[in-house]
Amino acid sequence: MKANKLTAAITAVGGYVPPDVLSNKDLESIIETSDAWITSRTGIQERRILKQGASSDMGVAVLKELCEKSGTSMLDIDLVIVGTITPDYIFPSNANVICDKAGAKNAWGFDLGAACSGFLYALSVGSQFIETGKYKKVAVIGMDKMSSIVDYQDRNTCVIFGDGAAGVLLEPNAEGFGVQDFDLYSDGKGRELLYQPAGGSLMPPSEDTVKNRLHYLKQDGKTVFKHAVTNMGDATIKLMQKHNLSAETLDWFVPHQANMRIIDAVADYANFPKEKIMINIARYGNTTAATLPLCFWDYENQLKKGDKVVLAAFGGGFTWGAVYLTWAY
Ligand code: UT7
Repeated sequence: MKANKLTAAITAVGGYVPPDVLSNKDLESIIETSDAWITSRTGIQERRILKQGASSDMGVAVLKELCEKSGTSMLDIDLVIVGTITPDYIFPSNANVICDKAGAKNAWGFDLGAACSGFLYALSVGSQFIETGKYKKVAVIGMDKMSSIVDYQDRNTCVIFGDGAAGVLLEPNAEGFGVQDFDLYSDGKGRELLYQPAGGSLMPPSEDTVKNRLHYLKQDGKTVFKHAVTNMGDATIKLMQKHNLSAETLDWFVPHQANMRIIDAVADYANFPKEKIMINIARYGNTTAATLPLCFWDYENQLKKGDKVVLAAFGGGFTWGAVYLTWAY
């Protein structure tokens, strides 16, 4: 625990998943796949799809829940950091749009594009603004409307992803609870193994990019899988060793929800018992920047003050890392 220093504690959790469910059975009528294949190869049974509205709408719902649960006026929010790769526009940022729609008139904010590591990166950045004493209320939101960049003709990717958003409110804590440490990494050599080829400055939109379906996400699943297991596992173990944490003394491990087989492999690697791992992949699939805070949203009732929690993620970029925090309520 960090002593004699302000720590950034999570004081509320908010989440939003759209009501429309896309089940494995539904996918069977769209592409050549089967419920059995998807369940056994990924652990996913269904995912949510945002049929109407933009990703910012999910973020607005999250920010409102954070304010309601913590008894915070929207006008007191200082900063909104959004991890996303599916903002409403390339610019302005979703943080900008969300603050306007939610009425967070005194906040500023920015988006952070680190794909599936977006929430980890954003949480680490947000905690700095609290630790320095600069701000008192920082909202960190991970959100993605993956259905807007997923190719429903590509069975390698479309069965995995879903839409959702969730986030946390960070506030200063004098008891030492909250974010304790983080180790974050990136390696741009992986940039074309999981990415959206067109639409940026390298390949601006054209008739060809649309015809060739280059505005959709592409993934070399097998290679990403291998990197995800070793990098998430290594980052987790390294951070735990640094803080003298063991599988016994840790209360919760929160892994990015990309594939149940990745979660199982990382759990084996780090020796975590199943009951200490937050898992909700079956219901939401991979919601990219939203998976980690959605785990908090689902497990909030089981978390206790002082619980030691390690989060880990791996995603496009490549980006990855781990965060160690203690639960504050
Ligand atoms: O969140 C960011 C990080 N992302 C990840 O961590 C994702 C990492 N990758 C994965 O989760 C897995 O690689 C996938 C779920 C994407 C794919 O699973 P896999 O076990 O690696 O399958 P594969 O790509 O090796 O494909 C095995 C077989 C192939 O058929 P053949 O060539 O053996 O005849 C595929 O064509 O499964 C086939 N296949 C499918 N079959 C039914 C691939 N997708 C499907 C599908 N339904 N949806």
